[in-house]
Amino acid sequence: MKVFIVIDVDAGRLAQNIKILSDYGKVFDARSVQEMVQVREREGHVDAVFLSTNVPNIRETVVKIGKNLRADGSPAHVFLIGEMNPDTLADLFDAGVRDITRHPINPVEVGLHKKLPTLTDEREISVHFGTPQATREKIILFCSPKGGDGKTTISTQTGAVIAKMTGQALLIDADYAGNAYRKLGITSMTHSIIDFEKEDSQLLDRHSLENKLITHQQSGLKVLPSPWNEHTSIPAKMAENALLAYRRFYGNIVVDLHQGYTPAFETLKDYATDIICVCRPEEDELERAMEMIIRLYEAAPDKLRIIVNGLRNEKELQPIRVGLEQFKIKAPLSSLPYADKEFAQRKELPVFLEPKRSLYSRELRAILKGLGITNSKDAVPTATAEPGASKEKETPSAPKGPGWLRKKFGRVAD
Ligand SMILES: Nc1ncnc2c1ncn2[C@@H]1O[C@H](COP(=O)(O)OP(=O)(O)OP(=O)(O)O)[C@@H](O)[C@H]1O
Ligand SMILES: [Mg+2]
Repeated sequence: MKVFIVIDVDAGRLAQNIKILSDYGKVFDARSVQEMVQVREREGHVDAVFLSTNVPNIRETVVKIGKNLRADGSPAHVFLIGEMNPDTLADLFDAGVRDITRHPINPVEVGLHKKLPTLTDEREISVHFGTPQATREKIILFCSPKGGDGKTTISTQTGAVIAKMTGQALLIDADYAGNAYRKLGITSMTHSIIDFEKEDSQLLDRHSLENKLITHQQSGLKVLPSPWNEHTSIPAKMAENALLAYRRFYGNIVVDLHQGYTPAFETLKDYATDIICVCRPEEDELERAMEMIIRLYEAAPDKLRIIVNGLRNEKELQPIRVGLEQFKIKAPLSSLPYADKEFAQRKELPVFLEPKRSLYSRELRAILKGLGITNSKDAVPTATAEPGASKEKETPSAPKGPGWLRKKFGRVAD
């Protein structure tokens, strides 16, 4: 069985290449040479390392791989993924790089097509992050055009569902005015994301990292709280340090960001597997919502999903549909109903309410299913188990735009 390691700072690209390579062997991702060595020690050998050209200190990494990772006595092959200027590339070939391939990896280009996949091996993609038992699934960012749109409500429930299903999920509250832990009914905290001010916090050991978290008893979701109004913003670097520290041990991370298009979003977007923009249906919020959605879509078109939260009737979706159509935004659009009863009861997170009794629970489960978060046995029923579950609402093919958006924004995407 071939063993491959992929290194990429962009979670989306990483996931895509891991998927491609998993047809040809066992694939791991790693963030340091130590983690690669751990993989080698566990697996016995490493056949090839795929190093994205966006990884810092590439030359140094290539040299270290040559020294530390060997298969049958000779060094593991190092392939670069991406683009690079010819001079730097020549230097890297000298350092031991075998070839450069475009993203996404084309197996024919790197000679993998000659090896047939082993049919007896598990075909499921099993991605281990250097450290045993952490399985990388999701890094989901929640953002919104303004305060009170529902980020914390939805992100905490999303985290809780993943935690219940996988036994392993973390919510990072990266909103300086955030109250995620309170929303989960937790009353006190001692540590917060502020502990991640310095770059070296990325390397904290597992024990220290766990000590900073509080646990939501009902679901097992871990929470890294916000400092709660002690600061006026969470610097992008701080949010990144926290994400990179916990990413080593947590496969599933949900991040609750501050409203607006923030520097923290700009920095974390590349690590994300999914980006969710939560907005309200009120017409006077539409302009702000569209501005935000346009920016998010420009920044990460493939990762973006939109949730219109607190819908009182289906018609309220129409203006935003028209907006998406006019700006050619193809991001999936879903909605959640206005649900005062569900939020009035304090016993359970609404998503855990019996779906037959709660439209909100049903619709949120359907959205999570659309995100690939589903488990028929546990928190989220499958479509067949839950025939009433609403489908994701696609942007309709051609609602005729009345042109008001053009007037409002002075430009229309082409
Ligand atoms: N679908 C809904 N129906 C009714 N009430 C809702 C719904 N979603 C959220 N709420 C309520 O709206 C309020 C704001 O929600 P929430 O705190 O999640 O927003 P937020 O985007 O995190 O706000 P902030 O930017 O201030 O952090 C809360 O009181 C919440 O209970
Ligand atoms: Mg919030």
